[in-house]
Amino acid sequence: MAFEKSILVTGGAGFIGSHVIRLLVNKYSTYRIVNLDLLTYAGNLENLSDIESADNYTFEKGDIVDTDFINLLFEKYAFDGVIHLAAESHVDRSIEDPMAFIKTNILGTVNLLNAARNSWKDFGGKRFYHVSTDEVYGSLGETGLFTEKTPYDPRSPYSSSKASSDHIVRAYYHTYGLPIVISNCSNNYGPNQFPEKLLPLFINNIKLEKQLPVYGDGKYTRDWLWVMDHATAIDVIYHDGKNGETYNIGGNNEWQNIDLIDVLCDIVDEELGREKGSSKKLIHFVKDRPGHDKRYAIDATKIKNELGWEPSIKSEEGLRLTVQWYLRNAEWMENVTSGSYQKYYDKMYAHRI
Ligand code: NAD
Ligand code: DAU
Repeated sequence: MAFEKSILVTGGAGFIGSHVIRLLVNKYSTYRIVNLDLLTYAGNLENLSDIESADNYTFEKGDIVDTDFINLLFEKYAFDGVIHLAAESHVDRSIEDPMAFIKTNILGTVNLLNAARNSWKDFGGKRFYHVSTDEVYGSLGETGLFTEKTPYDPRSPYSSSKASSDHIVRAYYHTYGLPIVISNCSNNYGPNQFPEKLLPLFINNIKLEKQLPVYGDGKYTRDWLWVMDHATAIDVIYHDGKNGETYNIGGNNEWQNIDLIDVLCDIVDEELGREKGSSKKLIHFVKDRPGHDKRYAIDATKIKNELGWEPSIKSEEGLRLTVQWYLRNAEWMENVTSGSYQKYYDKMYAHRI
């Protein structure tokens, strides 16, 4: 079958990538969607089982840090576009092992940029999209919002590796004219998220009646976005965003961790038929994350005004859908928490609890 466009999505077996792949495969039957993923601990093809045999979908296992492999992939598929999500994504892991983040998030991104630049003889109709994070902007006080003009001030090895790759992506635009676009998004939540991140970890712990390790005083603020809303924003930006531009994506949905956890306990209790609020006894305040950013909040006016995108799901509705998904997909949770997971979890929390 001849395809109108060939698009490389990196990290498509991960949390956000799996929703992006599903959206593109279902919406654009004339595009060939190639999912390149190394299947690290965070990559899981089970996230894509419903679309794995679609005619316009292909999976390639490989490492974005492997230059030869990436060059061959560009030759094989003659990509028109790249939507780059593959990354080491967890802040706590970046504190334990920064080098893994430097390699994948910085060197991997440069490899992809070079392959695009070398294989795209002319840049017409081409696009390199780097999916990034609001953490590059650092930490806010009680008030204020991150805009696209907020100076970068990353404070963890994870966020500094993402900031570095954002800068390099922009440098390829200014230096070589590579048609790039970047988005910086707040905390995503929803199905398929690896249970090292706050919400799936706590939902699973509540179910198993294990402790809920709240870092510090719990008064840290995050803006939460339904993951499928992020996927639609990525689709809109990929197709309608302007070359060289950055778009902030957010949910207008700020929560202090402890307030979110309180509501989460109520919802999980209700869904499990337990006395509402009974799992709050599992909350344990533990040693803080080093360099813990106090508050993230996004001004998403630009993407709304210029591209007409807005989040569609309100917070409590999304939270309940998320809880229901993890409780109904017990086998998924079982699969991702078997193997080395428990070892990771014990190591990660040994020095906190
Ligand atoms: P994730 O950890 O769930 O998935 C990352 C995926 O990348 C996995 O499938 C993994 O196997 C793959 N991968 C890792 N190293 C690779 C390598 N060297 N080569 C090929 N594939 C590799 O991450 P996520 O939460 O879905 O985040 C995806 C992207 O979105 C990341 O770039 C992240 O920085 C960004 N982001 C995440 C959030 C969030 O809340 N999760 C918010 C804003 C931006
Ligand atoms: O803002 C976007 C970022 O959001 C993404 O770029 C990252 O990839 C993603 O991991 C996420 O980073 P956070 O560090 O904000 O997410 P995490 O789920 O790890 O933590 C959310 C908040 O909850 C944070 O303030 C730390 C706190 N926390 C987290 C865990 C795992 C706890 O209190 N206890 C925990 O056990």
